[in-house]
Amino acid sequence: MSFLSYILPIIKIYLVGLKVLLVQMFSRAFRLPAMPRQDGRVAIVTGGARGIGYEVVRHMAGLGARVIIGGRDEQEGLTAVRRIREEYREAKVEFEQLDLASLQSVRRFVQRFKGRGLPLNILINNAGVMLVPEGRTEDGFEQHLGVNYLGHLLLTWLLLDTLKDCGKRSSCSRVVNVSSSAHRAGRIRLDDLNGSRCYSAHGAYCQSKLALLLFSSRLHDELQDGGFAVTSCAVDPGMVDTALYRHLWSPLRLAQSAVARLLFRVGASSSIFSLHLFIMVARGHIMVELPYAGSTC
Ligand SMILES: NC(=O)c1ccc[n+]([C@@H]2O[C@H](COP(=O)([O-])OP(=O)(O)OC[C@H]3O[C@@H](n4cnc5c(N)ncnc54)[C@H](OP(=O)(O)O)[C@@H]3O)[C@@H](O)[C@H]2O)c1
Ligand SMILES: *[C@@H]1O[C@H](CO)[C@@H](O)[C@H](O)[C@H]1NC(C)=O
Ligand SMILES: *[C@@H]1O[C@H](CO)[C@@H](O)[C@H](O)[C@H]1NC(C)=O
Repeated sequence: MSFLSYILPIIKIYLVGLKVLLVQMFSRAFRLPAMPRQDGRVAIVTGGARGIGYEVVRHMAGLGARVIIGGRDEQEGLTAVRRIREEYREAKVEFEQLDLASLQSVRRFVQRFKGRGLPLNILINNAGVMLVPEGRTEDGFEQHLGVNYLGHLLLTWLLLDTLKDCGKRSSCSRVVNVSSSAHRAGRIRLDDLNGSRCYSAHGAYCQSKLALLLFSSRLHDELQDGGFAVTSCAVDPGMVDTALYRHLWSPLRLAQSAVARLLFRVGASSSIFSLHLFIMVARGHIMVELPYAGSTC
């Protein structure tokens, strides 16, 4: 691979990022409309122990849904559960071990879930890694591809029958994939999916998010054609100040923490974005207008 094809995705991803920041800066502040109660509904949120996922879990649990956080780190997961229960004493929120970098762990998670005989109304594929150093999942796939895309692909596939069973015309089941505007800089390198010939963390992140998006729209079409009461969509949260950025190149990391306060959806406002996502889930809207052209369904 030439130097140019290495550097281009990097330039592109930062241009895309800059554009998202600018749009965010100039978009109206967002006010949360009243949300319908979610009693009796069951949701799974991957990576729900922190960041965007955590905010989504917190709000859904607050509205009465039973929410299962699927995550790698048990300590972090249990802490999240405790914090949410402190806020909402009645919250039905729990943690289950799920490592998306292991297809076996995904299968076990689904087995345990199905063993409980619960319905499943909402699946939020939120977990993700960004710009991690070159590495492989347990099954030998490149990390971004494996965690952001393939792990979720298997999870969705294995849970689809439960989602279909629980979907009603009046209230569809939903799959929501948290993608990213970075998909715009993405290219699927079919000849080198794992980036083994020339690894670019930027390229790998963009590729994984593009793959997630393509499958989202394909799944949506197939579910509609099949007449199933399951809808699917992908959303882009915009820029939210979370731990996701910890692998950014250190000078940029410094700049990022400096501008984050000003420009990113920080802290409380990161939850504000999550609410956009949440509204889409709760109301069953697919084409909700995000403050930038972020939703694709
Ligand atoms: N923040 C942004 O500006 C932004 C922009 C566009 C898109 N997004 C997308 O939004 C989603 C959430 O990101 P975030 O900003 O909230 O980042 P975050 O704070 O880093 O959260 C990511 C979550 O994913 C989990 N995770 C990572 N690898 C995992 C694995 N192998 N198995 C299970 N869980 C795993 C993490 O848990 P552990 O690492 O502790 O296991 C963590 O809970 C991601 O898909 C990201 O690509 C974020
Ligand atoms: C990526 O890695 C997996 C696991 O080792 C392998 O099965 C697959 O063929 C690789 N794909 C490409 C295109 O290199
Ligand atoms: C979500 O992504 C998975 C793969 O990561 C894909 O199989 C599925 O079709 C997508 N679903 C939706 C609703 O976007």
